[in-house]
Amino acid sequence: MIATIDLENTYSSGVYSKRPVAIVRGCGASLWDAEGREYIDCAAGHGVANVGHGRLEVASAIAAQAQRLITCPEIVYNDVRARLLERLAHLTPEGLTHIFLCNSGAEAVEGALKFARIATGRSGIVATLRGFHGRTMGALSTTWEPHYRESFAPLVPEVSHIRYNDLEAAEAAINEQTAAVIIELVQGEGGVHMASEEYVQGLAALCRERGALL
Ligand SMILES: Cc1ncc(COP(=O)(O)O)c(C=O)c1O
Repeated sequence: MIATIDLENTYSSGVYSKRPVAIVRGCGASLWDAEGREYIDCAAGHGVANVGHGRLEVASAIAAQAQRLITCPEIVYNDVRARLLERLAHLTPEGLTHIFLCNSGAEAVEGALKFARIATGRSGIVATLRGFHGRTMGALSTTWEPHYRESFAPLVPEVSHIRYNDLEAAEAAINEQTAAVIIELVQGEGGVHMASEEYVQGLAALCRERGALL
């Protein structure tokens, strides 16, 4: 375990502060470290591995696809991607029929910000205090925590941060310059704070009324 920790400390970027545990294996929601100690995985890769570790059908599907075709950029068509897009379009709420496939949360946020600007012809973004949306320049601009932001100024302009779960603040901030409002339905990094149903519905109505995207 010390060897692993030393190697990572020596060669990693140092961007992430780590707990002193080296995880080597997982099964379902359980994890094991190099000494065989078992842990419950309450993070699941920050939510991206909610199906659990070591699922045979997931591992087999990944292996089969990698053997057949390891990658296929969107400059050509692909049978598997076509079926995935169709399936996702049927799983998402009515009216959401076009899918942007990407590799990470931050990239999804970057895509959303750009789609919002191009769709509305506006440039303002309203985000929230304690919000976290990723570390790339656009996503970081919507992230609130100064510790993440301050070393990278200047960030993307025309981003404002308002109080979470506060419809009056939203009412004052969303205007004819606003391309989009971005919130987490449950804030994670900023503590565990849930958006109330009234807040989300109010935000949706405000955005609809003022021509901004949510
Ligand atoms: C709410 C939220 N948005 C965006 C991100 C960024 O995702 P990624 O780390 O995959 O870029 C995270 C990461 O934890 C997140 O919690």
